[in-house]
Amino acid sequence: MSRRRKIYEGKAKILYEGPEPGTIIQYFKDDATAFNAEKHAVLDGKGVLNNRLSEFFMTRLAGIGVPTHFLKRINMREQLVKKVDIIPLEVVVRNVAAGSISKRLGIPEGESLPRSLVEFYYKKDELGDPMVSEEHIAAFNWASPQEMDDMVSTALRVNDFLAGLFSAVGIRLVDMKLEFGRLYEGDTVRTVLADEISPDSCRLWDLETNEKLDKDRFRRDMGGVTEAYAEVATRLGIIKQTSDLATVVDINGERSGAK
Ligand code: TMP
Repeated sequence: MSRRRKIYEGKAKILYEGPEPGTIIQYFKDDATAFNAEKHAVLDGKGVLNNRLSEFFMTRLAGIGVPTHFLKRINMREQLVKKVDIIPLEVVVRNVAAGSISKRLGIPEGESLPRSLVEFYYKKDELGDPMVSEEHIAAFNWASPQEMDDMVSTALRVNDFLAGLFSAVGIRLVDMKLEFGRLYEGDTVRTVLADEISPDSCRLWDLETNEKLDKDRFRRDMGGVTEAYAEVATRLGIIKQTSDLATVVDINGERSGAK
C-alpha cells in the first residue's frame, strides 16, 4: 500500500491514486467518528462491511441508471472508483424524523415526515458541516442550478429505490446522507453519486422492533455496531449469516478476533 500515492485521508476512508489516470482507490478503514471527530473508535470489521455494502448499493443503483463513481471492488477493503471533484455539500434525505431534524424542529424521533425532505449541509469540518439553503448554495456558487436539479432528483430516486430494497428485508430507511461529484469526460461534466452508501451514512431501523442498525449505535454508545452492520449485510444477502463476520474479517488478514 505504501507504494501508492495517498491523495487524501478522511475519518473513515483513505483515497489513493488509482492504477489508471482518472481512477482512485477508496480504502475503507475500521475507524468510526462522531460529533465532528470528538468521539473516535476502531471497530473491527466495519471497513470490510462498508466496502461490501457500498459496492452492493452503488451496483444496484447503476442497474437502474443512476450514474455513480463506482467501478469495481478490488479486495476486502478497497474499491476502484472514478476520480471526481466532490461537490462540497452533504445531501440528506429524510423519511422519518430522527437526529438533527428532531432536535432542531422538535419533531419526536420516529414520527413519519409528511413527505421525503431533502436538506443540504456545507461540507466544512471546521464549522461542523452547517445546514445551508439553496440561496446560500447559489450565492456562493457551491453548485450550479443544473447540479442542484441533478442532485435533488437523483437523491429522491436513490431514496425511493433504497427504501424499497430495505423494506423488502424488514428495514426502514429513516434517512441518509449522499455526496455527489463532478465527473469530467472530455468537454462535458456530469453529476455522479460518489463517496459511499453504508450504515455510516444512513439511519436504518428494524421495521418491526425499531432496533437501530446503523451508526447511531456508535454515536449513542449502544454497542453492537459491527454486528448491526453485519445484520444489514446478511439480510441483503451480501454475507451468508452474521456469524460470517469473523470470517469476513479474518479473510482480510489484517485483524482477527472480531466480536
Ligand atoms: P443528522 O440527523 O445528524 O443531520 O443526520 C442525517 C443523516 O446523515 C443520517 O443518516 C446520518 C448522516 N450523517 C452523515 O453521514 N455524516 C454526518 O457527518 C452527519 C452529521 C450525518
